[in-house]
Amino acid sequence: MKICVLPGDGIGPEIMEQALRVLDALRGDGFSFEAETALIGGCAVDATGTPYPEATSKLAKSADAILLGAVGGPQWDNLPREQRPERGLLAIRKELNLFANLRPAILYPELANASTLKPEIVAGLDILIVRELTGDIYFGQPRGIREEGGERVGFNTMVYAESEIRRIGKVAFEAARKRGKRLCSVDKMNVLECTQLWRDVMIELSADYPDVELSHMLVDNAAMQLVRAPKQFDVMVTGNMFGDILSDEASMLTGSIGMLPSASLDANNKGLYEPSHGSAPDIAGKGVANPLATILSAAMMLRYTFSLEAPAVRIESAVKKVLAAGYRTGDIYEAGTHRVGTREMGDAVIAAL
Ligand code: IPM
Ligand code: MG
Repeated sequence: MKICVLPGDGIGPEIMEQALRVLDALRGDGFSFEAETALIGGCAVDATGTPYPEATSKLAKSADAILLGAVGGPQWDNLPREQRPERGLLAIRKELNLFANLRPAILYPELANASTLKPEIVAGLDILIVRELTGDIYFGQPRGIREEGGERVGFNTMVYAESEIRRIGKVAFEAARKRGKRLCSVDKMNVLECTQLWRDVMIELSADYPDVELSHMLVDNAAMQLVRAPKQFDVMVTGNMFGDILSDEASMLTGSIGMLPSASLDANNKGLYEPSHGSAPDIAGKGVANPLATILSAAMMLRYTFSLEAPAVRIESAVKKVLAAGYRTGDIYEAGTHRVGTREMGDAVIAAL
C-alpha cells in the first residue's frame, strides 16, 4: 500500500503524527505500507508559492490513498484567492475526482455529555452524511466579482449535471443499503432549479433500490431537524455546499468536531482521508489537539480503499476503549475524566490496540 501523507497546516502535523504511529503499530497485522510526505495548503504556499504544488499532485496521483491533516490559517487569509490554502484542498479533490465525501457522525456513549444537546436527543446517534464534493456552487462557472452600474457585484453559479447527481446518488443508496436502509435527500427545490433536478434524479434512481426508503427534505428544515430530532436520520445525501454546512452541524451533535473522520472517494475507491475539522490555528503547536478524528480517518482508509475491515475495526475498538477508560483531550474534557494531550492520546490508542 502506498500512502501519500499531507500533514498540512496548524494542528495538521501533530494529529497526523499520531495517526501514523497508530498505523505503524498495526504493521504486520495483515498489511504493510509505505508512506511519503508532501506539502499542501499554507505550508506549500510558503515553500513553493502555490497551495497544491506539482510534486504533491504527482505523489497523490501515484499513491493508493491520501491521508491529510488540515489546511489554512490566518496568516494566509489575505493572499489572492488562487494562493489560499483552501484552494489546495479543492484542487486535489477536483483533480483526483474525489466526488463522494462520506462524513459519519457517530455519538460514542461516553461522550453523550460533551454534546450541547440533551443526552436523550443524541444518545445512540449514527448518521452518515454523503456530500457531493466536486461540483455545485464550489466549482460552477461563471464566478467572480465585477463592476456593474457603479458598484461591485459578486456572483457564483450552482450547477449539477444529472450524471453527477446520479453517481453520488448511487454511492448514497449503496451506503444506505448496508446500514439502516433509509436515505434522506436534501435539496432546496422550492427555490432552486438545480436542486429540483437533484430531487428528480434521486427519485429516478430509487427505482433501482426498492429496498431503500427514500425521503426528501428542504435544507432549511434539515438543518432544523438535525438539532430537533437527529436520530430520525440514517443516511443523508446532498450537494457540495449544503453538505459542507450540514456536516459541521451534525458533528456538533457528537460533542466535538475533533472526533469526526471523513473519506473522499473516486469511482474506484481511491480516497483522500481527513478529519472533518480544520487546522485550529489557535491551538496549533501546543500538543493539545484531539488526534482521534485523524486516527479514525486512517481506519476509514483501511476499510474503503484497502478493504481491510479487521484492522479498521481494531482501530475503532481501540478508540472506544480509550474513551471508556476516561482519556479526553481538551475539546471533549469534562470533570471526572482524565485530560491528556495529543501525543498521550496517541499513546493510549496504541496501548489499547
Ligand atoms: C470542509 C471544509 C472545506 C470545504 C474548506 C476548507 C474549503 O470546510 O472540508 O468541509 O468547504 O469543503
Ligand atoms: Mg466544511
